[in-house]
Amino acid sequence: MRLSKIFYVLPSLLSAICALSYYSNDERVYLESDHDVDQWKAAGWQQMQRVHFLEPIFLAFAVRQQNIARLEEIFWSVSNPKSKSYGRYLNFEAVNELVKPSKESLRIVKEWLSFGGVETRSCNWTWNSDYVICKVTAFVAEVLLKGVKFYHFHHEKANLTVVRSSAHYTVPKEISKHLDFIGGTLRFPALNFVSSKAHNRSKTSKFDLRFHIGVYPSVLRKRYNVSDTVGKHHKNSQAVAQFLGQHYNSIDLEEFFTIFGRSFYHLSSVTKVVGPNSGRSGLEASLDVQYIMSLGANISTWFWSTAGRHEKQEPFLNWIIAVGNTTDVPNIFSVSYGDNEDSLSINYMQRINVEFMKAGARGITMLFASGDSGAGCHEKMFRPNFPCSSPYVTAVGGTAFNDPFGIDGEYGYDISGGGFSNVFKQPSYQTSAVNTYLNNSPKLPIESRYDRTGRAYPDISAVCNHFWIVNNLIPIPGIMGTSASTPTVAGIIALINDIRLQNDEPPMGFLNPFLYSNLKSLYDPTTGYNDGCGEPDRGFYAFEGWDPVTGCGTPNYPALAKAAMEAVSDHVTDALKV
Ligand SMILES: *[C@@H]1O[C@H](CO)[C@@H](O)[C@H](O)[C@H]1NC(C)=O
Ligand SMILES: *[C@@H]1O[C@H](CO)[C@@H](O)[C@H](O)[C@H]1NC(C)=O
Ligand SMILES: *[C@@H]1O[C@H](CO)[C@@H](O)[C@H](O)[C@H]1NC(C)=O
Ligand SMILES: *[C@@H]1O[C@H](CO)[C@@H](O)[C@H](O)[C@H]1NC(C)=O
Ligand SMILES: *[C@@H]1O[C@H](CO)[C@@H](O)[C@H](O)[C@H]1NC(C)=O
Ligand SMILES: *[C@@H]1O[C@H](CO)[C@@H](O)[C@H](O)[C@H]1NC(C)=O
Repeated sequence: MRLSKIFYVLPSLLSAICALSYYSNDERVYLESDHDVDQWKAAGWQQMQRVHFLEPIFLAFAVRQQNIARLEEIFWSVSNPKSKSYGRYLNFEAVNELVKPSKESLRIVKEWLSFGGVETRSCNWTWNSDYVICKVTAFVAEVLLKGVKFYHFHHEKANLTVVRSSAHYTVPKEISKHLDFIGGTLRFPALNFVSSKAHNRSKTSKFDLRFHIGVYPSVLRKRYNVSDTVGKHHKNSQAVAQFLGQHYNSIDLEEFFTIFGRSFYHLSSVTKVVGPNSGRSGLEASLDVQYIMSLGANISTWFWSTAGRHEKQEPFLNWIIAVGNTTDVPNIFSVSYGDNEDSLSINYMQRINVEFMKAGARGITMLFASGDSGAGCHEKMFRPNFPCSSPYVTAVGGTAFNDPFGIDGEYGYDISGGGFSNVFKQPSYQTSAVNTYLNNSPKLPIESRYDRTGRAYPDISAVCNHFWIVNNLIPIPGIMGTSASTPTVAGIIALINDIRLQNDEPPMGFLNPFLYSNLKSLYDPTTGYNDGCGEPDRGFYAFEGWDPVTGCGTPNYPALAKAAMEAVSDHVTDALKV
């Protein structure tokens, strides 16, 4: 051991031992006892060797915030087209000031960390101190969070190694009042692989054997009535969020536009890259960048990547912390990331919901791919996916063309993630649309498979299969997944933001209240179903209006743009009346 290392380790060992005795008589509690601690087994991870006691661990402490009820009120009022405050977003400082933890919480958390041997000054705090990320040795972490046991875990297919605990963590009861959860301990990164193979639909479809010409930008522009519309406002922006080393290549993008971008004006490169981007390009990253920039054409585009650089960190958590801690952020995020709702703790999901409310209160639109397992199936129940099951984000499902040689109609595609949350109550913006579905759909699944009072998703959808992309300079057909639908929808919403900005109006922000009050402005696929449980292996069926396969429907750009401008004039008239 080098001398410098001893100097680094010794004080932390000593104070950790002090902390052990200081807090040893305290009752300890779990912050996330409901987290499924064995989820890694089913997800294909292998437990490897124990982490060496001097190895660094990155822990993210979610310090208890204040005024959440007030934040939620603001979130709903700025997102509701019928409210007088529609579009009157808060800025970064106002949101962060509002939810800032109390002085007492900060003092107690800091004291506890210092006693436990954590150098709190070298931790990274957010602007309002609602998160603190600290680098500690495994030894210090295991004393501080008694119960944890850090191991390396390897995932062969993903070629990924992470450090996580095989057991739950605890904190002293006194501390539990000031923390929501501790990141970097339990959650494994979700691994959604974009599929590059044509989906095997042998059970249906007379078109299986015919050659499919594929889906590319001009097909989507035609279908969604975008024609040659492009963005014109210099302050408009859109982003794709990437995790775990999904990178794009600017030469792929140029090649893609050479082949598929001739019919509309577009930017030739990404405007801003946040985080790492180098090496071979990934299917997901290529897909997202190429399609958001083809629909939201000529709009400043960000590539926001969160590495698995430290294999001790949670990429999704790090991203949402960074968004909340950054003043200058894009208007829209297109995100393909999701976990099984049943694998996550309530504390964690509730806190992430607060982060979504913070984003919505600032006017940021969050679009999440609804997942590629339909309604899902686990122990005879459907299996919802988070964050899509969050009432505070917009979930994007998948459809396919009725006839691959015409682009007239769409049906709900069987992979399209959709269903009802088992955790979150149905928000009022969707009750009428969801009840219409539940009361009128002739083919509902048996009731024990889902909670009809839960938050229902998806909210919107778009075509999801037979996409062409360019990846590592090779044009690839047959890309499929709701992660193809999501950047498509994001680009179209970015065009709507553009019209609003051109008229001195704020961007759309959290979309759902607007979407559910403008069902007529979307195309309405009424056939198809998604996968699920039972005999036959089905989830929900598409139906007129909202349904859990296609949501409110697929975008009809001119109709949505008109509705978005009418939402503006309503609010202006209202304001004038006051
Ligand atoms: C939050 O942002 C500030 C300013 O950019 C930075 O110094 C700090 O490290 C960030 N905090 C975290 C947790 O990333
Ligand atoms: C804090 O932020 C700096 C700069 O981004 C980074 O180099 C460092 O690793 C971070 N430390 C922790 C504990 O996350
Ligand atoms: C696995 O990842 C490592 C870097 O983490 C890389 O060097 C290696 O080439 C990858 N292997 C495969 C098969 O992709
Ligand atoms: C499609 O599925 C059928 C039945 O499950 C299987 O027999 C067939 O091999 C599959 N085809 C491909 C191309 O995977
Ligand atoms: C593209 O956007 C810029 C503003 O960012 C605008 O000045 C320009 O006119 C737009 N180009 C077209 C062809 O609309
Ligand atoms: C959308 O396009 C179709 C076909 O081009 C056209 O019939 C329809 O009127 C358009 N809808 C709107 C709202 O512009």
